[in-house]
Amino acid sequence: MNAKLAVLFFLLTVGMAMPILLGIRSIPDIQLPNLHTGYQPEQPIPYSHRLHAGVLNIDCQYCHSGADQGRHATVPSLDTCWNCHKTVAGRTKTAKESIAKLREAYMSGEGVEWKRVHNNPDFVYFNHQTHVRIAKYIDADGNISDGVDCQYCHGDMAKNGVAKQQEQLAMGFCINCHRDQNERHETANLPARAPVSACDACHR
Ligand code: HEC
Ligand code: HEC
Ligand code: HEC
Ligand code: HEC
Ligand code: HEC
Repeated sequence: MNAKLAVLFFLLTVGMAMPILLGIRSIPDIQLPNLHTGYQPEQPIPYSHRLHAGVLNIDCQYCHSGADQGRHATVPSLDTCWNCHKTVAGRTKTAKESIAKLREAYMSGEGVEWKRVHNNPDFVYFNHQTHVRIAKYIDADGNISDGVDCQYCHGDMAKNGVAKQQEQLAMGFCINCHRDQNERHETANLPARAPVSACDACHR
């Protein structure tokens, strides 16, 4: 094992012990390294993917515009919501109340602090652009598509009310896909570039 990884193991142990050392009591608020399938924190505004991405069929990247541009997919600022909600005030009582909160947060300039749902530990490097735009994804039948679908890693978000982590984005999940993809790329005579045993590609 090289020195960097020894450090990694050390940090991991310390990291795990940190909440205990700090005497933090509200354990449910602590997100353990990415083992949170089903993690669905309550959000300050009950924004629904089922309604917006499902029923209204708004494209994921209309809001998560960073996904094909860089490392982070990014969560939209309220300006994006305001494009519609300056006129859409809601029909039902709950909708009106929730949208009133949105209006208040927008008008006051305070914005909304969305709670993180997915959170890889800092020692993991993941880049959306590589996967969403640069990668060629080859399915088991050999069909090639541009980029990996959001759904592969996030499940069907359009079925969610409040966002929820659906896949355990653990090391095995990443590496299994990389191994399969590399084999399929070789079969298709395409460059196989997904790191499998190069630890430092994902741990920088
Ligand atoms: C109208 C804007 C909008 C659209 C369209 C939208 N989202 Fe989101 N998304 C948000 C907002 C706001 C949040 C933060 C609040 C939350 O987590 O529920 C979010 C959160 C997320 C998260 C969790 C982020 C985290 O903290 O880990 C994922 C994953 C996600 N969206 C994926 C998608 C996918 C996939 C689609 C398309 C099927 C999509 N979104 C469509 C606005 C949008
Ligand atoms: C190959 C797997 C994979 C694909 C494909 C993928 N994501 Fe992600 N996504 C992740 C991982 C891993 C994280 C956690 C990253 C972190 O914590 O640093 C994440 C985090 C996020 C987040 C919250 C943090 C951020 O980066 O802003 C949003 C929002 C999100 N993804 C949206 C999307 C959308 C929208 C798509 C499709 C356009 C998409 N993702 C495609 C794996 C993926
Ligand atoms: C493309 C237009 C559009 C965008 C962009 C948009 N919304 Fe909406 N939103 C709607 C419509 C339409 C409704 C349904 C209102 C109704 O008829 O009750 C709605 C409903 C809602 C509701 C009420 C849901 C309920 O039934 O309780 C909330 C909360 C909400 N939106 C938040 C947001 C947030 C936060 C954003 C930005 C991340 C956003 N919306 C972006 C069009 C949009
Ligand atoms: C659906 C299959 C799939 C999944 C799941 C996946 N990857 Fe990848 N990944 C790829 C492919 C294909 C490439 C090669 C892209 C190219 O052609 O350059 C790649 C490339 C990479 C690279 C090298 C390029 C770069 O961005 O630096 C890293 C690092 C990486 N992936 C990290 C991850 C991590 C971390 C995860 C899990 C959280 C993950 N991947 C999940 C398919 C996947
Ligand atoms: C394709 C990306 C990728 C590669 C390559 C990779 N890892 Fe990881 N590794 C991850 C992800 C993602 C996690 C975070 C897992 C979690 O949060 O559950 C992780 C976590 C870890 C952890 C923390 C323990 C754990 O399971 O959570 C150690 C230690 C580790 N990796 C060592 C290695 C070593 C050694 C190698 C090379 C043989 C390697 N990794 C290669 C993605 C990768």
